[in-house]
Formats: sequence, structure tokens, C-alpha cells
Amino acid sequence: MILILFGPPGAGKGTQAQRIEKAHGLVQLSTGDMLRAAVAAGTEMGKLAKSKMDAGALVSDDIVIGIINDRIQEDDCKDGFILDGFPRTVAQAEALDAMLSNQSLKLDAVIEMKVDDAALVERIAGRYTCAGCNEGYHDTNLKPEVEGVCDNCGSTEFKRRPDDNAETVGKRLKEYYAQTAPVLPYYADKGVLQSVDGMAAIDEVTSQIANILAV
Ligand code: AP5
Repeated sequence: MILILFGPPGAGKGTQAQRIEKAHGLVQLSTGDMLRAAVAAGTEMGKLAKSKMDAGALVSDDIVIGIINDRIQEDDCKDGFILDGFPRTVAQAEALDAMLSNQSLKLDAVIEMKVDDAALVERIAGRYTCAGCNEGYHDTNLKPEVEGVCDNCGSTEFKRRPDDNAETVGKRLKEYYAQTAPVLPYYADKGVLQSVDGMAAIDEVTSQIANILAV
């Protein structure tokens, strides 16, 4: 199964992708995570991406299309994958179509997560992740069972993203409405677009997505 989780920053794409990965054995492909890894490793690509990410702008289509094109050819993607944060422009969506067609693969669903802007800002402000395994948490909405200990790997180290500050979040939302929301009609025209109420509680959103995947 090939699935796209689509929505603005903080909509819950990463949270739900991790759950689908565990439940369905599909690999989560997050372009944001891949770019952050390149930045941390100090690669040429990471250096090009860093200034854009810090400013809340999109990284160039060429870079992210190249990353996904290479990644989906790896062995662990052969049974399917979940795209989280890609595509983010119509050019990326068109490139994805070409990549899938070259490998005789088919996109099964695009699930849009609808969330109000005010909730997005609150979610991003409270977000943190495990430094060991990248499991996602929130200061109030999703705490580890034992405070300060990751449920998934037991690490006691956590981190927050440098672009999760009020100023950059505003810019990321503007980019979403200007460049990414126009991808929705592209998928609606293809008949693959579905939506969930991303304002619902995390478990409820997981159930809504499970219902879509069960059909
Ligand atoms: P990326 O890492 O993709 O960030 P994003 O799209 O801005 O999305 P987020 O990771 O912020 O949010 P999310 O929807 O995954 O929410 P989460 O599940 O964490 O991209 C970062 C940057 O990289 C971009 O700005 C750009 O520069 C670059 N980039 C990446 N991909 C690119 C591309 N394709 N093209 C060009 N540039 C690209 O949830 C957020 C918080 O809310 C968590 O704490 C969670 O616990 C909580 N939460 C989740 N669901 C709920 C719920 N239902 N109720 C209450 N709380 C919830």
C-alpha cells in the first residue's frame, strides 16, 4: 500500500504515520526527518536545506524529489510506504506520479488531515521527540507513560526542533497555503483524496484513518 498523509505543519502527519507504520508494517518516509538528518550530518544537501528550513520556507523541489526517488527504491519500501510531508508542491506531485509509474506502482490514498490554524500553533509549540528513536510527544496532549522516559525505547533524552518557534511556524503556515494546499485539487481530480477530522483526539484520528485503509 502506498499512502500520502497530507496536511499543514502540526496536523499530526508524523504522529499518525508512526502508528500506521507499527500497525501495517509500512515504512514512514518523512522528507522533514530526512532533511534534518542531512543537516545534522553536515552534507552538501543539508547545508543547502538548512537556511530554508530555519526560515520556514520550502526546500527546492529538485532536492526533495531526488531524496524520495532514491528512497523508494530501497528494499524496505517494496511492501509499501507512507509519505509524510511529500509532495508539497504540484511539481512534486507530478514527479511522484512519474516515479511510481516507472516502478509500476500505484498510489492507494491521499489522506488530508484538517486542523484549525490556532490548534496547529499550540501543537507545534508543545511538541518534542525522543532523541533516541524519534517517537513524538506533546507537553499536554501526548505525554510518555512514565515522565521523562520514552515509551518506545526507554531513552531519557528528548529534543525540540529549531523551526518550532512562533515566528517560523507563521511562515510555514503561509507556505502551506501558498504552495502545498494547491496540491489537494490535483489529487481530488484523480479520485484518491479522502479527509479526516484532524481536530479529533489522536486515537480518534487513528480510527478514522484505519477505517479508510480497511476499505
Ligand atoms: P516537516 O518536518 O515535514 O514539518 P511539517 O510539515 O511542518 O510538519 P510537522 O512535522 O511540523 O507536523 P506533523 O503534521 O508531522 O505533526 P506531528 O505529528 O508532529 O518539514 C520541516 C521543513 O522541512 C519544512 O518547513 C521544509 O523547509 C522542509 N521540507 C520537508 N518536506 C519538504 C518537501 N516535500 N518540500 C520542500 N521542503 C520540505 O504533531 C504535532 C504535535 O501535535 C505533536 O506534539 C503531537 O503529539 C500533537 N498531536 C498530533 N495529533 C494530535 C491530535 N489529534 N490532537 C492533539 N495533539 C496532537
